[in-house]
Amino acid sequence: MGHVPTRGRPETLGMTTIERPIDVHIRPETAADATRIHAINDAAFGGPVEGNIVDGIRGTDRWIDGGSLVAEDADGELIGHLLLSQGDLVAPDGTERRLWVLGPVAVLPDHQGRGVGAALMRAAIEVARRHHQPVVCLLGHATYYPRFGFEPARRIGLEAPRPWRDENWMAVRLPGWTPALRGVVRFPPAFPED
Ligand SMILES: CC(C)(COP(=O)(O)OP(=O)(O)OC[C@H]1O[C@@H](n2cnc3c(N)ncnc32)[C@H](O)[C@@H]1OP(=O)(O)O)[C@@H](O)C(=O)NCCC(=O)NCCS
Repeated sequence: MGHVPTRGRPETLGMTTIERPIDVHIRPETAADATRIHAINDAAFGGPVEGNIVDGIRGTDRWIDGGSLVAEDADGELIGHLLLSQGDLVAPDGTERRLWVLGPVAVLPDHQGRGVGAALMRAAIEVARRHHQPVVCLLGHATYYPRFGFEPARRIGLEAPRPWRDENWMAVRLPGWTPALRGVVRFPPAFPED
C-alpha cells in the first residue's frame, strides 16, 4: 500500500506551530506480527479486550485476508493496527449475507494524533472498495469517523445489534451500495456481547 505521508496534528511550541506527520507504511499483517498487534491494542485501549477480539477472529471464517492492517514507522516498528472482519446482515425477510465491520483501530499512545489512524482508515476503506464491499459498519467515536465518509448507519437502513447511539453506530457507503441493503448487522462471534 506504500508509504502514506500523514497530516499530523500541529504541535504548538510557544508561538511556533510545528507539523509532526509520521511517514507510515500501511500493509497487511503477517504471521510474525500477531504478538505485537495484541500489544498495540493493549496499549491503546488499556486492556486485553480488543487484542483478544483480533486473536479470536484470526483463523476463523470471519477473517478477511488482507483485512488486518498494520502501520509501520520509518524504522519498521509497528505503531498502529486496524481490523476489518466479516459480520452479517440479517435482512427483514430473514435472509443473511456477510457485511464487513471495522474495528478495533489502535495507535500506540505516544504516536496518536499524528495521522496514523487516518492512514489506517483510508487504507481499510480502499481494501473494502477493492473487494467490492458495498458498505462497512463500525461502532466508534462520534467525531472521528465522519471525516472518512462514515454517517449514522440507521439513516441508510442498517440497524445495530444493540441499542447503540446513532452518533456511534456508523456506516460508509461504497460503490455498489443500494437502498435495498437493509437489516440488522451482527458482529463476528469473537466480539463481546455488550
Ligand atoms: C482513535 C485512534 C485510533 C485515532 O488514531 P490517531 O492516529 O490518534 O488519529 P489521527 O492522528 O489520524 O487523527 C487525529 C484526530 O483524531 C481525534 N481523536 C483521537 N482520539 C479520539 C477519540 N478518542 N475520540 C474522538 N476523536 C479522537 C483527534 O482529536 C484528532 O482530531 P483532529 O484531527 O480534528 O485534531 C487513536 O487515537 C487510538 O488508538 N485511540 C485509543 C483507542 C481507540 O479509542 N480506538 C478507537 C475505538 S472507536
